[in-house]
Amino acid sequence: MPNVQLHDKSFRPFINKGQINEAILKLAGKLQNDYEGKKPLFLGILNGSFLFVADLIREFEGECEVSFLRMASYEGTETTGKVNQVMGLKESLKDRHVIILEDIIDTGNTIEVLIETLKKENPKSLKVATLLFKPNAYKKLYPIDYVAISVGNEFLVGYGLDYDGLGRNLKDIYIINE
Ligand code: IMP
Ligand code: MG
Repeated sequence: MPNVQLHDKSFRPFINKGQINEAILKLAGKLQNDYEGKKPLFLGILNGSFLFVADLIREFEGECEVSFLRMASYEGTETTGKVNQVMGLKESLKDRHVIILEDIIDTGNTIEVLIETLKKENPKSLKVATLLFKPNAYKKLYPIDYVAISVGNEFLVGYGLDYDGLGRNLKDIYIINE
């Protein structure tokens, strides 16, 4: 596979679609086992998770619901800095088994806001599943319950992940050439 150029940066192949498929299949098996008969509600976080969600839920056999949320980031006051807010929650989470589906967890700032916000809706259980996890960048204490693939701190694109808007449509995952 050739390198790809997005804006001013070049990226080389890193995780191919076959490896992604394999990791998703394994994760779906675990979830199916843990959520048998619980009719889970999968909450995908846009935009990055759309391909992961589409592939994962087709491997999950049994009843489940799927919906999407989006994080909105805006400039707060001087003291609060950037404020992240959860947008688009329509379903009641009360007494539901909820699984957040993320494309990638880096510092954990995003997942922290998501967990703290969704906890207030009183789900019966709340877990996190992510396609990619950067354990060396992660700064929070919340457990990341399901990780399909652990990676280093390098910037990645493809399979839903973007670099300034580009690269989401790549079938494979690419790593930045520094
Ligand atoms: P966190 O809040 O630091 O955990 O970062 C989460 C968000 O940062 C992800 O949802 C992505 O949008 C973005 N992000 C972090 N690492 C990468 C990467 O390697 N490639 C593309 N986006 C990334
Ligand atoms: Mg994201």
